[in-house]
Amino acid sequence: MKNTIGVYGLGVMGANLAKNMLHNGERVAIFNYTRDLTDAFMDGYSHPEVSPYFELESFIDSLEKPRKIFIMVTAGPIVDSVIQSLVPLLDPGDIIMDGGNSDFHNSNRRYQQLEEQGIHFISVGVSGGAEGALHGPALMPSGNPNAYQQVAPILEKIAAKVDGKPCCTYIGPEGSGHYVKMVHNGIEYADMQLITEAYLFLRKILGLTVQEIATVFQSWDETELKSYLMEITTEILTKVDEETGKPMVDVILDKAGQKGTGKWTSQDALDRGVPSSILTESVFARYLSSLKEERIYAEKHLNGPKFETGALDKEAWIQFVKKALYMGKICAYAQGFYQYKSASSQKGWELDLGEIALIFRGGCIIRADFLNDISDAYRENPEVTNLLLTPFFMDKANQFESSLRKIVIKGFENGLSLPCFSAALSFYDGYRSSESGANLIQAQRDYFGAHMYERIDQEGTFHTEW
Ligand code: 6PG
Repeated sequence: MKNTIGVYGLGVMGANLAKNMLHNGERVAIFNYTRDLTDAFMDGYSHPEVSPYFELESFIDSLEKPRKIFIMVTAGPIVDSVIQSLVPLLDPGDIIMDGGNSDFHNSNRRYQQLEEQGIHFISVGVSGGAEGALHGPALMPSGNPNAYQQVAPILEKIAAKVDGKPCCTYIGPEGSGHYVKMVHNGIEYADMQLITEAYLFLRKILGLTVQEIATVFQSWDETELKSYLMEITTEILTKVDEETGKPMVDVILDKAGQKGTGKWTSQDALDRGVPSSILTESVFARYLSSLKEERIYAEKHLNGPKFETGALDKEAWIQFVKKALYMGKICAYAQGFYQYKSASSQKGWELDLGEIALIFRGGCIIRADFLNDISDAYRENPEVTNLLLTPFFMDKANQFESSLRKIVIKGFENGLSLPCFSAALSFYDGYRSSESGANLIQAQRDYFGAHMYERIDQEGTFHTEW
């Protein structure tokens, strides 16, 4: 009996996806460029339907046609080398899926190149980390819709389920699946930074202990803020370092790493001309955090207010922080989904934003109850440009904007850096202003560069001899 799918790349994600496929009844051929990971896979695991291969030819020969190969290797040039090694062994109609965090520009190129050779290329955005890969990730596949139909039964089986519905849907043409995954990560960065700013406010301004913050977050996780990130943050804050007895979070160096997908989202927003300022601030916040040594020096030499810890009514201010966090999230998701909308119309991808929100409800890192509301908002208002203009979120924003404002003002008064909270507020206030001040920018541009401007009362473009 031939294998139903081949998994190429047996790092943690690839190995777990292969196991997930096996648990869902597939006959899985596994292959890794170096045999150590294949051996490691087989050492710790036994399943009647797994077949390890140590030569590419026999791996490919073992697959039923059209062959379906899921590659899970480090994003970048390695994906190209793997594809190059596979193509001579494949027949027209065979399907390669790339599950890595690949740059969607590369996925678009690979899609075109492979289609020309009759091979189908499906970009599969995969979210949920190692656990998700094993028990059910969110999957964002794109490419040729007919080819997708051939792999849909496998992908939908292995995906997370919410209300019986798989967190996997056909996203759109070419590399749009990797695009959707990339912006998912941009939103993820913003969400993580917003939670971190809420934590900092509670700790530095309200004077709560780490354990008290864990309790507050746990209670928030039973409200509209319920999300995977809230849940794991609660667990993280509860964890104590065995060596020192301190909260684990206090022994971790405050320099944030990143692998690039958040940065790509911001680069894409700049290229596309969309104001994803909160997402971008979350990337900059990671960069600023990495300047640890400079920050230590600067703290001693640059003035600013001292934290007035504990001077406020804790109960009331905890509620303001909670509402500010919710408001910040609304603005961040509004930006991410606006970016989807712009990309979709610029590229002709016809992304279904309601459906994307639905598949994000389970499996992925930003999974949250709140995505039901986003999905409903787009279902009810499919043409709406911005989430903030849908009745549900307009109502929420009108209720919670004042809390976000309070937190930003209080944080700033106390010298607390709140890049995403403040970016959310600036975005919100800018978005709801019919007058932006850009008339002055236009005048300045015309003054020094004769760049011309439009008038509010006449058609055409104008220049003034200033
Ligand atoms: C996911 C995650 C996953 C990963 C990224 C982000 O959706 O499962 O986004 O793709 O954690 O690598 O990591 P960085 O913070 O290192 O960019």
